[in-house]
Amino acid sequence: MFFAPPNATQPDEEPADQRPAETTMSNFVKVAALTDVPAGTSKLVEVSQVRVALFNLDGEIYAIEDVCTHDGGPLVEGTIVNGCQVRCPRHGARFDIRTGAALSFPAFEATNTYAVQIKDGAVWIEQPV
Ligand code: FES
Repeated sequence: MFFAPPNATQPDEEPADQRPAETTMSNFVKVAALTDVPAGTSKLVEVSQVRVALFNLDGEIYAIEDVCTHDGGPLVEGTIVNGCQVRCPRHGARFDIRTGAALSFPAFEATNTYAVQIKDGAVWIEQPV
């Protein structure tokens, strides 16, 4: 009798590293319809009591926590500048919408970002923890 080791592949099965990557939606939450966030706009959503600002930059959706790290300003109400930055409406700190990085005084710390997936015309974001 022959017992294959637990991680062995069957002869007609592709090795794990050659299989197509699987996308799991299990830790994502549906937050809006894609049409709710037209290009060049933002939208506030709330997930697990976390305020998240969605931004549409030329058709690409990004999600960052709606909290300016300087003094809690609502970034969703900020102005989009330089194509990929948001200027806080309170004191003018700029953040990179794609990475959350703080780019200018008076903010020094990045705001949180959340992964985004688009599926069936809906925006899904990574569950905030
Ligand atoms: S609260 Fe955003 S710059 Fe001060």
